[in-house]
Amino acid sequence: MITVKNNMFHLATANTSYIFYINESGIAEHLYYGKRLRNPEYDISALREKRLCPRVNETSLSPQDTTLQMTNLMSEFSTEDKGDYRTPSIAISYGKKKIRTLDLRFKSYSHFQGIERFSSPLVQAIGTDQNTCGIILEFVDAIACVKALFYYTLFDDSDVITRRVTIENIGSDPLILRSIYSLQLDLPEHDYDFITLNGAQLRERHPISRPLEQGIIINETRKGASSSESNPAVILKRHNSDECYMTNLIYSGSHREVAEVNQFGKTHILTGINDSTFEAELDPSTAFESPEALMLYSNMGLGDLADKMHHFVREHIQRGVWKNRLRPVSFNTWEALHFNFDEHGIITQIKAAAELGFELFVLDDGWFSVRNDGTTSLGDWTVNSLKIPSGISQISKECHRRGMLFGLWFEPEMVSPGTNLLKKHPDWLLGDPARKTHAVQRNQYFLDITREDCQDYLVTTIKQLIQNGSIDHIKWDMNRHLSDMYSVNPEIRSMGEYQHRYILALNRMQRAITSSFPNLSIENCASGGARFDLGMLSSGTSIWTSDSTDAVERLAIMKGTLMAYPLSVCGTCVSPSPNYATFRPVDLETRFDVALFGVLSYSLNLTKLSKAEKDAIKKQIEFYKQYRQLIQFGIFRCEEKDSITYFTASSPDRTTILVLYMQKLLKSNCEDDILRVPLADENYVYRVVRRDDSAPIWDIGKDVRDYKKEEEVYEVSGDTLKWAGIKLSTRYSGSGYNTGMRVMPDFSSRLYIIKKI
Ligand code: GLA
Repeated sequence: MITVKNNMFHLATANTSYIFYINESGIAEHLYYGKRLRNPEYDISALREKRLCPRVNETSLSPQDTTLQMTNLMSEFSTEDKGDYRTPSIAISYGKKKIRTLDLRFKSYSHFQGIERFSSPLVQAIGTDQNTCGIILEFVDAIACVKALFYYTLFDDSDVITRRVTIENIGSDPLILRSIYSLQLDLPEHDYDFITLNGAQLRERHPISRPLEQGIIINETRKGASSSESNPAVILKRHNSDECYMTNLIYSGSHREVAEVNQFGKTHILTGINDSTFEAELDPSTAFESPEALMLYSNMGLGDLADKMHHFVREHIQRGVWKNRLRPVSFNTWEALHFNFDEHGIITQIKAAAELGFELFVLDDGWFSVRNDGTTSLGDWTVNSLKIPSGISQISKECHRRGMLFGLWFEPEMVSPGTNLLKKHPDWLLGDPARKTHAVQRNQYFLDITREDCQDYLVTTIKQLIQNGSIDHIKWDMNRHLSDMYSVNPEIRSMGEYQHRYILALNRMQRAITSSFPNLSIENCASGGARFDLGMLSSGTSIWTSDSTDAVERLAIMKGTLMAYPLSVCGTCVSPSPNYATFRPVDLETRFDVALFGVLSYSLNLTKLSKAEKDAIKKQIEFYKQYRQLIQFGIFRCEEKDSITYFTASSPDRTTILVLYMQKLLKSNCEDDILRVPLADENYVYRVVRRDDSAPIWDIGKDVRDYKKEEEVYEVSGDTLKWAGIKLSTRYSGSGYNTGMRVMPDFSSRLYIIKKI
């Protein structure tokens, strides 16, 4: 609901209020963002900053506005050269002298129902005319000839508010746009921790928390993808309080989040396109649209913040038939076979996969042209007929015949040296031909997908393969980062625009494919999770969370990822042990217990498994299917205590709850464990049992005689479970053994099933 009264704008969601007003000088002053206020209009003077006297060493907006010192004003946007010395959310230059002064004043506003669509292929949040509404505010600087439009969108079923900005050149000369952040969130205080999701390939999105102090923290990437280093989702958590905010960007390119505390203790948050890799030249009467950003507030802690964000992603970011559909359990050939397969080998795996209960078979890298290692063939998307003489359609038929869907790997944006594609279209290679070499990564280069001819070729080729091969699912990979940006595309005036144009092209390509094949699911991937963002989730069903399939490393990756993204979009994997990346040996049941929290897949050579391993996997898949609804679409929590990580997934009605107890390292002579389940409903009575797994019986020598797996079964009320917790059976830790103790070596787990009785 949006109320406008006496120039005060109250954007109210079910539980939050976002309030600003247009002051006497036409500046949009931000007043409040937080818990829903019933009637803030009642006395606006309570919310307004008093500013009775200008501060001596600060710059005032004009002689008429001496107390308007923009650097200390909470505002809806900040510009340059009029006394606001914080990081600007909009920066331009115009005229021969490249003047940077920008002084935007309020002109008008209008309401809208539903979604105001982008005019470009940029992806955005979705909603219907019935459940979505918004407001557009227009500000103008007649000297710089700039019009700025700010779009705020609200959703009936969510506390998320989205915002985006359009900058229009209303003059008769070109205008340079140097920065355009999608969202600015100014807060009056700074007693927050700033939580970001950082890491690297194989250890993406580990949460890092830093207290805000005067100065700037920047979370960013310049790589042209949202990156494994810095995810665009960021969180502010108030000290000693459950109040928290999250912002995120619906965009897959280089982004920057700024958390700046000024000299007067106010917080200034920006999120948007990274301006260090961006510049756009706007001709007269043309406009530039920023991507859409979103913000969310909760006064019920990080768990509630995540729940609300998960709901928003599922309802307003994801679209198409897969939006709320259960994701299949898949088998992926990559860690099982790498490049070493032929048709017979694949069909053998297909047969074994079908017998074990898999629902989707994904043929990963290595099926095309002469690709037998990572040095060749990207771009030549024709089947390798030496490996697969009967063609992709035959493989797909084998899957379908056995009741499985079929998926195929692509890396459409790339090209390898020496390919037929490059011979035919040398000018499609991204890079300045005047240079002899270009930066290289994984032996591959970018195609200039901003060129329509290149884009059309890729879309047509992929569509034909999908059509002819009856493909149900594609894994869309992207394994390097942008460099050597040079394009002959006449639409691109300045290479400062290239990265953004690249994302527009990517969005357009994925949309062209999904709109032709509405039942297709896209699993996005980028060297694991280097493009894990709301942009990719707008056209894709899920994302390959990480190339780290190590059960221990995954704990931190999932903990961070699930702070901002739901389980239904996180691809997980049971792969061989010891793990290829960490050499860590982890038993099959523990690998499963951890991979269970997400969209489950396996990547193991099925012909090399023992009967016992196959039986275990069959049972695991059955178990996953039984609880899949609550795992993929339920509520998630993560807690950590010493070396133990607890993952909890609950059905929204709290009648069924799964708890992972995962021990990293066993502590000698350790303390007793208490299993507390904060998601338990206090009014229910639950039965708690351990998943019937086939975890190995450990032979620990003379200390552990007559070892039997512990059976723990409890019937407890929800309040006991939530507050007192269950004192679990003693963990063996080197100080004596008796039957019934939990014997758990390093890297081992238990999964508890908790059901209302
Ligand atoms: C990337 C992906 C992997 C796999 C390989 C294939 O590394 O993240 O999952 O698909 O490419 O080359």
